[in-house]
Amino acid sequence: MKTALILNGPNLNLLGTREPAVYGSHTLADVENLCAQACATHGFVLDFRQSNHEGELVDWLHEAGRLQVAGNLAGVILNAGAYTHTSVALHDAIKGTGITLIELHISNVFAREAFRHHSYISPAAKAVMCGFGVSGYALAIAGLAGMQAGD
Ligand code: DQA
Repeated sequence: MKTALILNGPNLNLLGTREPAVYGSHTLADVENLCAQACATHGFVLDFRQSNHEGELVDWLHEAGRLQVAGNLAGVILNAGAYTHTSVALHDAIKGTGITLIELHISNVFAREAFRHHSYISPAAKAVMCGFGVSGYALAIAGLAGMQAGD
């Protein structure tokens, strides 16, 4: 079974209490449970992580690259949080490893402040999931399954 690596960036550990009008009331633990169910449905091993540190996210993308080379990665779903809008390093890590990656946002970033409209992740991503709330995680896992099947 291949791994679906779900990476969450800064402040996503605050889900549940962080701006509930924007991000809803589900916690990150709830999101992990949702992802576990979706991975069970689609036959993936779930690896679910969160970090507030850019370099740690870069290291995890490199790890994903090695997993992909070994044939054990279904893909990465990355909610890079605010690093989406600032991080050339994350862009370069995705490009440099050639991993299959879906960019994800809980909120519709295009309906929010102008500084959220630009993403350094999108040009390096295979697909973008945005604005579906936390359900987007399950939808993105289904999307990865579709990619595996060559849909
Ligand atoms: C986010 C959107 C980003 O603009 C923001 O900085 C986040 C969360 C989202 O999931 O909607 O931290 O990625």
